[in-house]
Amino acid sequence: MKVGSFDHASPGQREQWEAAASFGHVATSAALDLSHGVILYLDDISVSFDGFRALNRLSLTIDVGELRCVIGPNGAGKTTMMDVVTGKTRPDSGKAFFGQTIDLTRLSEPEIAHAGIGRKFQKPTIFEHHSVWENIELAMKADKRVRTALFARADSAQRDRIAAVIDQVRLTAATSRPAGLLSHGQKQWLEIGMLLVQEPKLLLLDEPVAGMTDDETARTAELFRSLAGEHSLVVVEHDMAFVRQLGGLVTVLAEGSVLAHGSLDAVQEDARVIEVYLGR
Ligand SMILES: Nc1ncnc2c1ncn2[C@@H]1O[C@H](COP(=O)(O)OP(=O)(O)O)[C@@H](O)[C@H]1O
Ligand SMILES: [Mg+2]
Repeated sequence: MKVGSFDHASPGQREQWEAAASFGHVATSAALDLSHGVILYLDDISVSFDGFRALNRLSLTIDVGELRCVIGPNGAGKTTMMDVVTGKTRPDSGKAFFGQTIDLTRLSEPEIAHAGIGRKFQKPTIFEHHSVWENIELAMKADKRVRTALFARADSAQRDRIAAVIDQVRLTAATSRPAGLLSHGQKQWLEIGMLLVQEPKLLLLDEPVAGMTDDETARTAELFRSLAGEHSLVVVEHDMAFVRQLGGLVTVLAEGSVLAHGSLDAVQEDARVIEVYLGR
C-alpha cells in the first residue's frame, strides 16, 4: 500500500486546502465542513525541538467516522502529532486542517477544543471527590457551547444527556460513586465520558488502555468501536491485542513520519515495521 496521505484525497479537494492555506482565505471560526469525507488532514508537518526533528514531513488523513490506530516506537512522534492537532505545539511547517476549512495552525488550544476536537491524556483529570454524575455534569457545564445551548432547554434534557453518556461509557451502576473509588479502567471511561458530553467530532486518545485489565481493555475496544461513525477517533496504543480488537486501519510512525499504513495484518508483515518496532 502506498505510504502517505493523498490516496483518497481527490485533486479538487487538495486544491481547496492548498488555496485556503496559501491565500490566507482560512476560516478560523468556520463551521466544520465535512463535505469531502475527511475530518483531519495533515500535510508535510515538521516539528523540531532544539534541532531534533520530532515530526519529519508527516502527512496523513483521517476520514469522517474512522477509527484509526497509530503505532510506533517510543519517540516516533505520536504524542507530538496530537500536540500539533490540538494546538499545543505549532508546526515549523506543513498544513493541518480540521475538515475542509478550519486551519488548526491558526487556532489556540481552546479554539480547537471548541471547534470539536477532544483529547484524552494518559493520566485522568477527573474530580476524585465528586461522583461520576457530577463529573459528567461539570464537564458539560464547562463547555461554553453546551451551556449556551442548554439555556433554552429543559433541565430534564441535560439530565437525559448526562445519563446517556454515563450509560455509553458503562458506568451506570457507579453513577453516584465518588470518582476516586472507581477502578483504574472506570476512571479512564469516566474521562472519556467527560469528553463525550462535549460532543467532539474528533477524539484523540493517547495510550487509553495502559494499565487496564484484559477485560477492561476489551470493553474499551467495544466502546471505541461503538463511537466510530458518529465520531472519528485517532488512538495511539502499544497493546497489539487492543489494536486488533479495534479493527481499524493502522498507521505506523517512525522517526516523525509515516513508515507504513494499512490493515494490522499488512503492517505486521511489513519488514520495515518489524525491524523498527514489532520485532524488538
Ligand atoms: N516539548 C518537547 N521538547 C523537547 N523534545 C520533545 C518535546 N516533546 C517531544 N520531544 C521529543 O520528540 C520526540 C518525539 O516524542 P513523542 O512525540 O513524545 O513520541 P511518542 O509519543 O511517539 O513516544 C522524542 O524524542 C521526544 O523526546
Ligand atoms: Mg507518546
